Amino acid sequence: MLRSNGVSLPIRAPRYNTQRVTAVYAENGPKSPQQPTPGSRTLRAAAVAPQVEQVAAPQTTNGRGGSSHHDNNYVEPVLRPSTLTVHGGENKGRLRQGLLDSLTTPIVQTSTYTFKNTAELIAYQEGRHGSFEYGRYGNPTARVVEEKIMALEGAEDCLLSSSGMCSATTMLLALVPQGGHIVTTTDCYRRTRQFIQTVLPKMGISCTVIDPADIKGLQRALEQNKVSLFFSESPTNPYLRCVDIPKIAELCAATDTIVCIDSTFATPVNSRALSLGADLVIHSATKYLAGHNDVLAGAICGSADLVEQVRSMHNVLGGVIDAHAAYLLLRGMKTLGLRVEHQNRCAMEIAQRLEAHPKISRVHYPGLPSHPDHDIAVKQMSGFGGVISFEVKGDLWKTAAFIDACQLPYIAPSLGGVESLIEQPTVISYWDQGPEKRAEIGIKDNLVRFSCGVEHPEDIWADMAQALDQI
Ligand SMILES: Cc1ncc(COP(=O)(O)O)c(C=O)c1O
Repeated sequence: MLRSNGVSLPIRAPRYNTQRVTAVYAENGPKSPQQPTPGSRTLRAAAVAPQVEQVAAPQTTNGRGGSSHHDNNYVEPVLRPSTLTVHGGENKGRLRQGLLDSLTTPIVQTSTYTFKNTAELIAYQEGRHGSFEYGRYGNPTARVVEEKIMALEGAEDCLLSSSGMCSATTMLLALVPQGGHIVTTTDCYRRTRQFIQTVLPKMGISCTVIDPADIKGLQRALEQNKVSLFFSESPTNPYLRCVDIPKIAELCAATDTIVCIDSTFATPVNSRALSLGADLVIHSATKYLAGHNDVLAGAICGSADLVEQVRSMHNVLGGVIDAHAAYLLLRGMKTLGLRVEHQNRCAMEIAQRLEAHPKISRVHYPGLPSHPDHDIAVKQMSGFGGVISFEVKGDLWKTAAFIDACQLPYIAPSLGGVESLIEQPTVISYWDQGPEKRAEIGIKDNLVRFSCGVEHPEDIWADMAQALDQI
Protein backbone atom coordinates (compact mmCIF):
# COMPACT_ATOMS: atom_id res chain seq x y z
CA MET A 1 0.00 0.00 0.00
CA LEU A 2 1.48 3.31 -1.02
CA ARG A 3 0.45 6.85 -0.48
CA SER A 4 0.87 10.00 -2.45
CA ASN A 5 -0.33 13.49 -1.58
CA GLY A 6 -2.14 12.10 1.43
CA VAL A 7 -4.32 9.85 -0.70
CA SER A 8 -4.22 6.09 -0.60
CA LEU A 9 -3.16 4.80 -3.95
CA PRO A 10 -2.72 1.42 -5.47
CA ILE A 11 0.70 0.34 -6.65
CA ARG A 12 1.14 0.54 -10.36
CA ALA A 13 1.65 -3.04 -11.44
CA PRO A 14 -1.04 -4.18 -11.26
CA ARG A 15 -2.31 -0.62 -11.36
CA TYR A 16 -4.92 -1.56 -8.78
CA ASN A 17 -3.84 -3.92 -6.08
CA THR A 18 -6.79 -6.23 -6.04
CA GLN A 19 -5.82 -8.18 -2.95
CA ARG A 20 -8.84 -10.10 -1.97
CA VAL A 21 -10.42 -9.30 1.31
CA THR A 22 -13.14 -11.26 2.89
CA ALA A 23 -16.30 -9.40 2.86
CA VAL A 24 -19.56 -8.70 3.43
CA TYR A 25 -23.39 -9.52 3.69
CA ALA A 26 -26.50 -11.66 3.59
CA GLU A 27 -29.85 -9.89 4.05
CA ASN A 28 -30.83 -9.52 0.41
CA GLY A 29 -29.75 -11.22 -2.72
CA PRO A 30 -29.58 -14.87 -3.51
CA LYS A 31 -28.07 -16.89 -0.71
CA SER A 32 -24.78 -18.57 -1.25
CA PRO A 33 -23.66 -21.62 0.69
CA GLN A 34 -20.44 -19.84 1.55
CA GLN A 35 -20.49 -18.34 5.01
CA PRO A 36 -18.47 -15.32 6.08
CA THR A 37 -15.18 -16.10 7.74
CA PRO A 38 -15.22 -15.13 11.43
CA GLY A 39 -13.25 -12.02 12.15
CA SER A 40 -13.13 -11.00 8.55
CA ARG A 41 -15.57 -8.11 8.54
CA THR A 42 -13.25 -5.89 6.58
CA LEU A 43 -15.21 -4.00 3.96
CA ARG A 44 -14.62 -5.59 0.60
CA ALA A 45 -14.15 -2.18 -0.80
CA ALA A 46 -10.99 -1.59 1.16
CA ALA A 47 -9.03 -3.50 -1.43
CA VAL A 48 -6.31 -0.85 -1.59
CA ALA A 49 -6.52 0.38 1.98
CA PRO A 50 -3.77 -0.39 4.48
CA GLN A 51 -5.97 -2.30 6.89
CA VAL A 52 -6.85 -4.85 4.25
CA GLU A 53 -6.70 -8.38 5.44
CA GLN A 54 -5.32 -10.77 2.84
CA VAL A 55 -7.08 -14.06 2.70
CA ALA A 56 -6.95 -17.24 0.75
CA ALA A 57 -8.83 -17.15 -2.53
CA PRO A 58 -12.51 -17.52 -1.72
CA GLN A 59 -14.41 -20.41 -3.23
CA THR A 60 -16.38 -19.25 -6.19
CA THR A 61 -20.07 -19.86 -5.86
CA ASN A 62 -20.76 -19.89 -9.56
CA GLY A 63 -21.85 -23.48 -9.64
CA ARG A 64 -19.34 -24.39 -12.32
CA GLY A 65 -17.35 -26.91 -10.41
CA GLY A 66 -14.06 -26.62 -12.23
CA SER A 67 -11.97 -23.55 -12.68
CA SER A 68 -11.09 -21.69 -15.83
CA HIS A 69 -9.36 -18.42 -16.48
CA HIS A 70 -12.85 -16.92 -16.53
CA ASP A 71 -13.57 -17.84 -12.90
CA ASN A 72 -15.08 -14.66 -11.59
CA ASN A 73 -13.56 -15.00 -8.12
CA TYR A 74 -16.82 -13.84 -6.58
CA VAL A 75 -16.27 -12.54 -3.06
CA GLU A 76 -19.20 -13.17 -0.75
CA PRO A 77 -19.99 -9.98 1.18
CA VAL A 78 -20.51 -10.17 4.95
CA LEU A 79 -22.32 -6.88 5.46
CA ARG A 80 -25.77 -6.22 4.05
CA PRO A 81 -26.31 -4.13 0.90
CA SER A 82 -27.84 -1.14 2.68
CA THR A 83 -24.75 -0.98 4.93
CA LEU A 84 -22.41 -1.36 1.99
CA THR A 85 -24.10 1.38 0.02
CA VAL A 86 -23.14 3.77 2.82
CA HIS A 87 -19.72 2.48 3.88
CA GLY A 88 -18.38 0.37 1.01
CA GLY A 89 -15.24 1.82 -0.52
CA GLU A 90 -15.03 4.62 1.99
CA ASN A 91 -13.94 2.43 4.86
CA LYS A 92 -14.02 4.86 7.76
CA GLY A 93 -11.46 7.50 7.18
CA ARG A 94 -9.61 5.86 4.37
CA LEU A 95 -8.51 9.29 3.22
CA ARG A 96 -8.05 10.50 6.80
CA GLN A 97 -4.68 12.19 6.67
CA GLY A 98 -3.65 15.79 7.13
CA LEU A 99 -6.40 18.00 5.78
CA LEU A 100 -8.31 15.09 4.33
CA ASP A 101 -10.22 14.24 7.47
CA SER A 102 -13.60 15.05 5.98
CA LEU A 103 -16.28 12.45 6.52
CA THR A 104 -17.21 12.50 2.86
CA THR A 105 -14.82 11.48 0.13
CA PRO A 106 -13.28 14.58 -1.46
CA ILE A 107 -13.61 15.43 -5.14
CA VAL A 108 -10.05 15.21 -6.40
CA GLN A 109 -10.13 17.67 -9.27
CA THR A 110 -7.00 17.02 -11.24
CA SER A 111 -6.03 15.90 -14.70
CA THR A 112 -2.56 14.75 -13.71
CA TYR A 113 -0.51 13.49 -10.76
CA THR A 114 2.92 14.63 -9.69
CA PHE A 115 6.12 12.86 -8.72
CA LYS A 116 8.52 14.22 -6.09
CA ASN A 117 11.58 13.43 -8.18
CA THR A 118 12.88 11.18 -10.93
CA ALA A 119 13.59 8.37 -8.48
CA GLU A 120 9.93 8.32 -7.51
CA LEU A 121 8.88 8.34 -11.15
CA ILE A 122 11.20 5.42 -11.89
CA ALA A 123 9.84 3.63 -8.81
CA TYR A 124 6.36 4.14 -10.29
CA GLN A 125 7.46 2.81 -13.67
CA GLU A 126 8.82 -0.26 -11.92
CA GLY A 127 5.68 -0.81 -9.85
CA ARG A 128 7.19 0.22 -6.51
CA HIS A 129 5.33 3.51 -6.14
CA GLY A 130 1.61 4.05 -6.47
CA SER A 131 0.12 6.75 -8.65
CA PHE A 132 -2.74 7.17 -11.09
CA GLU A 133 -0.15 9.04 -13.21
CA TYR A 134 -2.68 10.80 -15.45
CA GLY A 135 -6.39 11.51 -15.30
CA ARG A 136 -7.28 9.09 -18.07
CA TYR A 137 -5.85 6.23 -15.99
CA GLY A 138 -7.77 6.91 -12.80
CA ASN A 139 -8.91 9.25 -10.08
CA PRO A 140 -9.10 8.76 -6.29
CA THR A 141 -12.75 9.87 -6.09
CA ALA A 142 -13.72 7.53 -8.89
CA ARG A 143 -11.70 4.73 -7.29
CA VAL A 144 -13.75 4.97 -4.10
CA VAL A 145 -16.92 4.55 -6.17
CA GLU A 146 -15.39 1.57 -7.94
CA GLU A 147 -14.63 0.00 -4.58
CA LYS A 148 -18.16 0.64 -3.34
CA ILE A 149 -19.54 -1.16 -6.39
CA MET A 150 -17.01 -3.97 -5.92
CA ALA A 151 -18.21 -4.36 -2.34
CA LEU A 152 -21.83 -4.55 -3.45
CA GLU A 153 -21.31 -6.92 -6.36
CA GLY A 154 -18.71 -9.09 -4.64
CA ALA A 155 -16.30 -8.31 -7.48
CA GLU A 156 -12.52 -8.37 -7.50
CA ASP A 157 -12.33 -5.19 -9.50
CA CYS A 158 -14.51 -2.52 -11.07
CA LEU A 159 -13.99 0.14 -13.70
CA LEU A 160 -16.10 3.26 -13.90
CA SER A 161 -16.62 5.12 -17.12
CA SER A 162 -18.49 8.11 -18.41
CA SER A 163 -21.71 6.25 -19.32
CA GLY A 164 -23.26 2.82 -19.42
CA MET A 165 -22.75 2.75 -23.18
CA CYS A 166 -19.08 3.55 -22.69
CA SER A 167 -18.74 0.57 -20.32
CA ALA A 168 -20.50 -1.78 -22.74
CA THR A 169 -18.70 -0.68 -25.89
CA THR A 170 -15.27 -0.64 -24.22
CA MET A 171 -15.91 -4.12 -22.79
CA LEU A 172 -16.97 -5.50 -26.19
CA LEU A 173 -13.99 -3.97 -27.98
CA ALA A 174 -11.62 -5.27 -25.32
CA LEU A 175 -12.88 -8.83 -25.01
CA VAL A 176 -14.21 -9.89 -28.40
CA PRO A 177 -11.45 -10.59 -30.91
CA GLN A 178 -11.56 -9.64 -34.56
CA GLY A 179 -13.79 -12.15 -36.36
CA GLY A 180 -15.30 -13.26 -33.04
CA HIS A 181 -18.90 -14.19 -32.37
CA ILE A 182 -21.33 -12.87 -29.76
CA VAL A 183 -24.62 -14.28 -28.50
CA THR A 184 -27.07 -11.71 -27.24
CA THR A 185 -30.77 -11.56 -26.42
CA THR A 186 -33.69 -9.98 -28.25
CA ASP A 187 -34.98 -7.53 -25.70
CA CYS A 188 -32.10 -5.16 -25.22
CA TYR A 189 -31.29 -1.45 -24.89
CA ARG A 190 -31.44 -0.08 -28.41
CA ARG A 191 -27.99 1.52 -28.50
CA THR A 192 -26.25 -1.64 -27.28
CA ARG A 193 -28.00 -3.61 -30.01
CA GLN A 194 -27.02 -0.92 -32.52
CA PHE A 195 -23.34 -1.18 -31.53
CA ILE A 196 -23.36 -4.97 -31.73
CA GLN A 197 -25.17 -5.08 -35.06
CA THR A 198 -23.68 -2.12 -36.90
CA VAL A 199 -20.25 -1.30 -35.45
CA LEU A 200 -18.80 -4.68 -34.45
CA PRO A 201 -19.40 -6.21 -37.91
CA LYS A 202 -16.77 -3.74 -39.20
CA MET A 203 -14.30 -5.87 -37.23
CA GLY A 204 -15.71 -9.07 -38.64
CA ILE A 205 -17.58 -9.74 -35.38
CA SER A 206 -20.88 -11.53 -35.91
CA CYS A 207 -23.78 -12.14 -33.61
CA THR A 208 -26.56 -14.60 -32.83
CA VAL A 209 -29.65 -13.09 -31.22
CA ILE A 210 -31.79 -15.42 -29.09
CA ASP A 211 -34.90 -15.08 -26.99
CA PRO A 212 -33.87 -14.61 -23.33
CA ALA A 213 -35.40 -18.01 -22.46
CA ASP A 214 -33.96 -19.88 -25.46
CA ILE A 215 -31.38 -22.11 -23.80
CA LYS A 216 -31.45 -24.52 -26.76
CA GLY A 217 -30.70 -21.60 -29.07
CA LEU A 218 -27.71 -20.74 -26.92
CA GLN A 219 -26.54 -24.34 -27.00
CA ARG A 220 -26.83 -24.38 -30.80
CA ALA A 221 -24.96 -21.09 -31.14
CA LEU A 222 -22.18 -22.38 -28.88
CA GLU A 223 -21.90 -25.56 -30.96
CA GLN A 224 -21.92 -23.80 -34.31
CA ASN A 225 -19.59 -20.89 -33.55
CA LYS A 226 -16.55 -20.07 -31.47
CA VAL A 227 -18.50 -17.74 -29.19
CA SER A 228 -16.33 -15.25 -27.35
CA LEU A 229 -19.03 -13.61 -25.30
CA PHE A 230 -22.64 -13.93 -24.18
CA PHE A 231 -24.27 -10.59 -23.39
CA SER A 232 -27.72 -9.96 -21.97
CA GLU A 233 -29.55 -7.58 -19.75
CA SER A 234 -31.39 -9.18 -16.86
CA PRO A 235 -34.04 -7.89 -16.42
CA THR A 236 -34.19 -6.63 -19.99
CA ASN A 237 -35.39 -3.34 -21.37
CA PRO A 238 -38.37 -2.89 -21.80
CA TYR A 239 -40.05 -6.28 -21.22
CA LEU A 240 -38.18 -7.13 -18.00
CA ARG A 241 -37.19 -10.60 -19.22
CA CYS A 242 -34.79 -12.44 -16.91
CA VAL A 243 -32.15 -14.87 -18.15
CA ASP A 244 -31.24 -18.02 -16.23
CA ILE A 245 -27.75 -16.90 -15.26
CA PRO A 246 -26.49 -20.14 -13.58
CA LYS A 247 -27.64 -22.24 -16.56
CA ILE A 248 -26.09 -19.85 -19.08
CA ALA A 249 -22.87 -19.67 -17.06
CA GLU A 250 -22.64 -23.44 -16.96
CA LEU A 251 -23.08 -23.79 -20.73
CA CYS A 252 -20.70 -20.93 -21.50
CA ALA A 253 -18.03 -22.24 -19.12
CA ALA A 254 -17.81 -25.41 -21.20
CA THR A 255 -16.81 -23.39 -24.26
CA ASP A 256 -14.77 -20.76 -22.44
CA THR A 257 -17.32 -18.09 -23.37
CA ILE A 258 -17.40 -14.97 -21.21
CA VAL A 259 -20.82 -14.21 -19.68
CA CYS A 260 -21.57 -10.52 -19.24
CA ILE A 261 -24.84 -9.42 -17.64
CA ASP A 262 -26.16 -5.87 -17.83
CA SER A 263 -27.65 -5.66 -14.36
CA THR A 264 -28.83 -2.06 -14.60
CA PHE A 265 -32.48 -2.93 -13.92
CA ALA A 266 -31.65 -5.35 -11.10
CA THR A 267 -29.06 -3.38 -9.11
CA PRO A 268 -26.76 -5.26 -6.74
CA VAL A 269 -29.41 -4.81 -4.04
CA ASN A 270 -31.76 -7.17 -5.90
CA SER A 271 -29.39 -9.52 -7.67
CA ARG A 272 -25.70 -10.20 -7.87
CA ALA A 273 -24.94 -11.82 -11.20
CA LEU A 274 -21.35 -12.72 -10.24
CA SER A 275 -22.67 -14.85 -7.39
CA LEU A 276 -24.81 -16.68 -9.97
CA GLY A 277 -21.86 -17.43 -12.23
CA ALA A 278 -21.57 -14.45 -14.59
CA ASP A 279 -18.04 -13.33 -15.38
CA LEU A 280 -18.83 -9.65 -15.70
CA VAL A 281 -21.58 -7.30 -14.61
CA ILE A 282 -22.32 -4.00 -16.30
CA HIS A 283 -24.36 -1.11 -14.98
CA SER A 284 -25.67 2.01 -16.53
CA ALA A 285 -24.87 3.73 -13.23
CA THR A 286 -26.84 6.65 -14.62
CA LYS A 287 -29.94 4.79 -13.43
CA TYR A 288 -30.39 3.24 -9.98
CA LEU A 289 -26.81 3.48 -8.73
CA ALA A 290 -26.66 7.26 -9.09
CA GLY A 291 -30.42 7.43 -8.59
CA HIS A 292 -31.13 11.15 -8.97
CA ASN A 293 -31.47 11.68 -12.71
CA ASP A 294 -28.56 14.11 -12.61
CA VAL A 295 -25.45 12.31 -13.83
CA LEU A 296 -24.29 9.81 -16.45
CA ALA A 297 -21.93 6.98 -15.53
CA GLY A 298 -21.17 3.36 -16.29
CA ALA A 299 -19.50 0.54 -14.39
CA ILE A 300 -18.14 -2.85 -15.23
CA CYS A 301 -17.06 -5.36 -12.60
CA GLY A 302 -15.78 -8.89 -12.35
CA SER A 303 -12.49 -10.72 -11.97
CA ALA A 304 -9.31 -8.67 -11.77
CA ASP A 305 -8.08 -10.29 -14.97
CA LEU A 306 -11.09 -9.43 -17.14
CA VAL A 307 -11.55 -5.93 -15.72
CA GLU A 308 -7.86 -5.25 -16.33
CA GLN A 309 -8.32 -6.17 -19.99
CA VAL A 310 -11.23 -3.73 -20.21
CA ARG A 311 -9.23 -1.08 -18.35
CA SER A 312 -6.37 -1.35 -20.87
CA MET A 313 -8.82 -0.61 -23.69
CA HIS A 314 -10.46 2.15 -21.63
CA ASN A 315 -7.07 3.81 -21.06
CA VAL A 316 -6.76 4.05 -24.85
CA LEU A 317 -10.35 5.00 -25.72
CA GLY A 318 -10.52 7.51 -22.90
CA GLY A 319 -14.18 7.50 -21.84
CA VAL A 320 -13.27 8.51 -18.30
CA ILE A 321 -15.73 9.69 -15.71
CA ASP A 322 -15.24 13.24 -14.46
CA ALA A 323 -14.43 13.56 -10.74
CA HIS A 324 -17.60 15.58 -10.09
CA ALA A 325 -19.74 12.98 -11.80
CA ALA A 326 -17.99 10.30 -9.73
CA TYR A 327 -18.80 12.25 -6.57
CA LEU A 328 -22.46 12.59 -7.53
CA LEU A 329 -22.57 8.85 -8.14
CA LEU A 330 -20.91 8.20 -4.78
CA ARG A 331 -23.36 10.46 -3.00
CA GLY A 332 -26.32 8.93 -4.78
CA MET A 333 -25.22 5.40 -4.00
CA LYS A 334 -25.38 5.97 -0.26
CA THR A 335 -29.17 5.73 -0.44
CA LEU A 336 -29.28 2.96 -3.04
CA GLY A 337 -30.45 0.38 -0.50
CA LEU A 338 -33.27 2.60 0.79
CA ARG A 339 -34.36 3.69 -2.64
CA VAL A 340 -34.39 0.26 -4.22
CA GLU A 341 -36.28 -1.33 -1.34
CA HIS A 342 -38.92 1.40 -1.65
CA GLN A 343 -39.02 1.11 -5.44
CA ASN A 344 -39.38 -2.70 -5.25
CA ARG A 345 -42.39 -2.39 -2.95
CA CYS A 346 -43.94 0.43 -4.93
CA ALA A 347 -43.54 -1.28 -8.32
CA MET A 348 -44.98 -4.56 -7.03
CA GLU A 349 -48.02 -2.77 -5.64
CA ILE A 350 -48.60 -0.73 -8.80
CA ALA A 351 -48.03 -3.77 -11.05
CA GLN A 352 -50.68 -5.75 -9.17
CA ARG A 353 -53.19 -2.91 -9.37
CA LEU A 354 -52.51 -2.35 -13.07
CA GLU A 355 -52.96 -6.06 -13.76
CA ALA A 356 -56.40 -5.89 -12.18
CA HIS A 357 -57.43 -2.74 -14.07
CA PRO A 358 -59.95 -3.18 -16.90
CA LYS A 359 -58.18 -0.67 -19.20
CA ILE A 360 -54.86 -2.52 -19.05
CA SER A 361 -54.39 -5.59 -21.25
CA ARG A 362 -51.04 -6.84 -19.98
CA VAL A 363 -48.45 -6.06 -17.34
CA HIS A 364 -44.79 -7.04 -17.69
CA TYR A 365 -43.22 -7.25 -14.24
CA PRO A 366 -41.02 -10.14 -13.11
CA GLY A 367 -42.57 -10.10 -9.64
CA LEU A 368 -45.94 -11.14 -11.09
CA PRO A 369 -46.67 -14.86 -11.59
CA SER A 370 -47.99 -13.95 -15.06
CA HIS A 371 -44.49 -12.88 -16.22
CA PRO A 372 -42.83 -15.52 -18.43
CA ASP A 373 -39.62 -15.46 -16.34
CA HIS A 374 -41.22 -15.17 -12.91
CA ASP A 375 -39.73 -18.49 -11.71
CA ILE A 376 -36.23 -17.45 -12.77
CA ALA A 377 -36.67 -14.04 -11.17
CA VAL A 378 -37.79 -15.58 -7.87
CA LYS A 379 -34.63 -17.74 -7.82
CA GLN A 380 -32.23 -14.97 -8.77
CA MET A 381 -33.65 -11.80 -7.30
CA SER A 382 -34.58 -10.67 -3.82
CA GLY A 383 -36.67 -7.81 -5.22
CA PHE A 384 -38.00 -7.27 -8.74
CA GLY A 385 -36.99 -3.69 -9.33
CA GLY A 386 -38.77 -0.41 -9.86
CA VAL A 387 -39.65 -0.58 -13.56
CA ILE A 388 -43.01 -1.85 -14.82
CA SER A 389 -43.98 -2.15 -18.47
CA PHE A 390 -47.64 -2.47 -19.36
CA GLU A 391 -49.99 -2.39 -22.30
CA VAL A 392 -52.96 -0.07 -22.43
CA LYS A 393 -56.11 -1.44 -24.08
CA GLY A 394 -56.04 0.75 -27.14
CA ASP A 395 -53.81 2.05 -29.90
CA LEU A 396 -50.78 4.36 -29.98
CA TRP A 397 -52.86 7.51 -29.51
CA LYS A 398 -55.04 6.21 -26.69
CA THR A 399 -51.86 5.16 -24.92
CA ALA A 400 -50.36 8.60 -25.53
CA ALA A 401 -53.54 10.17 -24.11
CA PHE A 402 -53.09 8.13 -20.93
CA ILE A 403 -49.47 9.24 -20.61
CA ASP A 404 -50.41 12.86 -21.20
CA ALA A 405 -53.10 12.64 -18.54
CA CYS A 406 -50.60 11.53 -15.87
CA GLN A 407 -49.62 14.48 -13.70
CA LEU A 408 -46.97 13.06 -11.38
CA PRO A 409 -44.35 11.29 -13.53
CA TYR A 410 -42.24 13.18 -16.01
CA ILE A 411 -42.37 12.10 -19.64
CA ALA A 412 -38.70 11.33 -20.17
CA PRO A 413 -36.26 8.57 -21.10
CA SER A 414 -34.15 6.88 -18.41
CA LEU A 415 -35.20 5.17 -15.21
CA GLY A 416 -34.10 4.37 -11.69
CA GLY A 417 -34.09 7.88 -10.24
CA VAL A 418 -36.03 9.45 -7.39
CA GLU A 419 -38.55 11.03 -9.77
CA SER A 420 -41.05 8.68 -11.40
CA LEU A 421 -40.68 8.68 -15.18
CA ILE A 422 -43.13 7.48 -17.81
CA GLU A 423 -42.56 6.80 -21.49
CA GLN A 424 -44.05 5.13 -24.53
CA PRO A 425 -41.09 3.23 -26.08
CA THR A 426 -42.64 3.56 -29.55
CA VAL A 427 -42.52 7.34 -29.33
CA ILE A 428 -39.45 7.99 -27.21
CA SER A 429 -36.98 5.39 -28.49
CA TYR A 430 -38.32 3.86 -31.70
CA TRP A 431 -40.27 6.64 -33.47
CA ASP A 432 -37.73 6.76 -36.30
CA GLN A 433 -38.02 3.02 -36.94
CA GLY A 434 -41.55 2.95 -38.35
CA PRO A 435 -44.28 0.41 -37.57
CA GLU A 436 -42.79 -2.58 -39.48
CA LYS A 437 -39.38 -2.38 -37.85
CA ARG A 438 -41.01 -1.83 -34.44
CA ALA A 439 -43.16 -4.91 -34.95
CA GLU A 440 -40.07 -6.89 -35.97
CA ILE A 441 -38.25 -6.04 -32.74
CA GLY A 442 -41.38 -6.46 -30.65
CA ILE A 443 -42.05 -2.88 -29.59
CA LYS A 444 -45.82 -2.50 -29.28
CA ASP A 445 -47.49 0.86 -29.82
CA ASN A 446 -49.60 0.50 -26.66
CA LEU A 447 -46.60 -0.28 -24.45
CA VAL A 448 -45.83 2.04 -21.53
CA ARG A 449 -42.67 1.88 -19.42
CA PHE A 450 -42.99 3.31 -15.95
CA SER A 451 -40.06 3.82 -13.60
CA CYS A 452 -41.15 4.23 -9.98
CA GLY A 453 -39.44 7.03 -8.15
CA VAL A 454 -39.47 7.36 -4.40
CA GLU A 455 -42.84 9.07 -4.19
CA HIS A 456 -45.55 7.47 -2.07
CA PRO A 457 -47.11 4.52 -3.96
CA GLU A 458 -50.64 5.71 -3.14
CA ASP A 459 -49.94 9.06 -4.80
CA ILE A 460 -48.50 7.32 -7.85
CA TRP A 461 -51.51 5.04 -8.06
CA ALA A 462 -54.04 7.84 -7.55
CA ASP A 463 -52.45 9.70 -10.44
CA MET A 464 -52.40 6.65 -12.73
CA ALA A 465 -55.98 5.79 -11.85
CA GLN A 466 -57.24 9.28 -12.69
CA ALA A 467 -55.32 9.18 -15.98
CA LEU A 468 -56.86 5.80 -16.85
CA ASP A 469 -60.28 7.23 -16.03
CA GLN A 470 -59.70 9.86 -18.72
CA ILE A 471 -59.22 7.44 -21.62
C1 LIG B 1 -30.20 -1.59 -19.61
C2 LIG B 1 -29.39 -0.43 -20.08
N1 LIG B 1 -28.06 -0.61 -20.29
C3 LIG B 1 -27.29 0.42 -20.71
C4 LIG B 1 -27.82 1.66 -20.97
C5 LIG B 1 -26.91 2.76 -21.44
O1 LIG B 1 -26.52 3.51 -20.33
P1 LIG B 1 -26.13 5.07 -20.41
O2 LIG B 1 -27.37 5.80 -20.79
O3 LIG B 1 -25.65 5.36 -19.02
O4 LIG B 1 -25.07 5.20 -21.43
C6 LIG B 1 -29.17 1.88 -20.77
C7 LIG B 1 -29.74 3.22 -21.01
O5 LIG B 1 -30.94 3.42 -20.94
C8 LIG B 1 -29.98 0.81 -20.32
O6 LIG B 1 -31.30 0.96 -20.12
